[in-house]
Amino acid sequence: VQQVPDILSPQFAADPYSAYRVMRESAPLIWHEPTQSYLVSRYQDVERVFKDREAAFTTDNYNWQVEPVHGRTILQLSGREHAVRRALVAPAFRGRDLEEHFLPVIERNSRELVDGFRDRGAVDLVDAYATRFPVNVIADMLGLDKADHDRFHRWYTAVIDFLGNLSGDPEVAARGERTRVEFAEYMFPIIRERRGNPGDDLLSKLCVAEVDGVRMSDEDIKAFCSLLLAAGGETTDKAIAGIFANLLTHPEQLAAVRADRSLIPKAFAETLRYTPPVHMIMRQSATEVTLSGGTIPAGATVTCLIGAANRDEQRYRDPDRFDIHRDDLSTGNAFSAAADHLAFALGRHFCVGALLAKAEVETGVGQLLDAMPDVRLADGFDPVEQGVFTRGPKSLPVTFTPVAT
Ligand code: HEM
Repeated sequence: VQQVPDILSPQFAADPYSAYRVMRESAPLIWHEPTQSYLVSRYQDVERVFKDREAAFTTDNYNWQVEPVHGRTILQLSGREHAVRRALVAPAFRGRDLEEHFLPVIERNSRELVDGFRDRGAVDLVDAYATRFPVNVIADMLGLDKADHDRFHRWYTAVIDFLGNLSGDPEVAARGERTRVEFAEYMFPIIRERRGNPGDDLLSKLCVAEVDGVRMSDEDIKAFCSLLLAAGGETTDKAIAGIFANLLTHPEQLAAVRADRSLIPKAFAETLRYTPPVHMIMRQSATEVTLSGGTIPAGATVTCLIGAANRDEQRYRDPDRFDIHRDDLSTGNAFSAAADHLAFALGRHFCVGALLAKAEVETGVGQLLDAMPDVRLADGFDPVEQGVFTRGPKSLPVTFTPVAT
């Protein structure tokens, strides 16, 4: 039997993908003492947990995983309560609202950042672009002051550290909980003001939205905004850095995308499969369930290893190869993403922001390629990923010949 590196070990952090392979092959269900959870790595099992056709899983784990930092969000809700809340918030993230109101916000925010470095010839795409663009977009959509960017960034980093605090570091936990208090102090006056004087920003829409006579309370709205900053900031940030890291290390595929921009959605889908921003999502079992490798009792926490499932050789041909042309992905439509990979999860809690993320990445990659037609990695630089719970390139220094505008 091959030894599986522990998910909290430095060896795993350096290369989770070879550990995932051993898990899928020889230990598809592992009881993991430090996180008190069962690790699940095969595509068919992770898909089954997310889809949950047998109603065997809940998101009760979020009561301890998310509640201390965000308060009560859509993630903790189930059944009708979840459906109503989703119906309240989802319209802002698709169709006309997305196209008419928010696409211009996306384009403007990307351009502002690109204009900051387009004539420099060298930039770190993680630092100057990926960590800023998505959080600026959410702040702008909500009608919050982008001058507070550093504060938002600090808050959501503390939140994500809290979620990924698998080893239970008390300082990380305390910082996460402080964030909840600080964010509430920041948001409540703004929510009250927006209720009295609504505009056409997303926060105003959340204040007036109503489904079946139900409206969101100030606390609900604050918690949702907190989730949006974290869920929409950290993840899309890593997706953008990831698509660039993958293309820059596969120059022939970068050239193909440069020549045919309609390939960007495929490059995005393949990036989400190959290097998903979120590697681990937990659920709680409501009943005893049998998965590959054994039976878990009711009331157990299950850690779904998205990064492992997305490279399952039972599902994908040559899964460790980044290939935007692979024919076992669909065309890269965000909702067919449900059939492509598990990076947005599946089922009831499937990412509300999938189309927004897709719009951000398509706009961002398009603008960056226009501004840096000959972009390449800085001499001798090899991208390194960091993170275990969420994961993405640490930095991405590139050089390019500035183009006249
Ligand atoms: C849910 C990933 C972008 C908002 C989720 C879930 C995943 C995910 C895995 C499922 C969580 C669970 O089932 O427990 C991603 C990735 C993104 C991304 C990889 C970028 C590439 C966004 C954006 C937003 C967003 C841009 C909004 C601004 C949400 C919300 C939920 C969610 C509100 C909860 C949905 C529910 O509980 O019904 N996301 N996300 N996400 N995401 Fe995203």
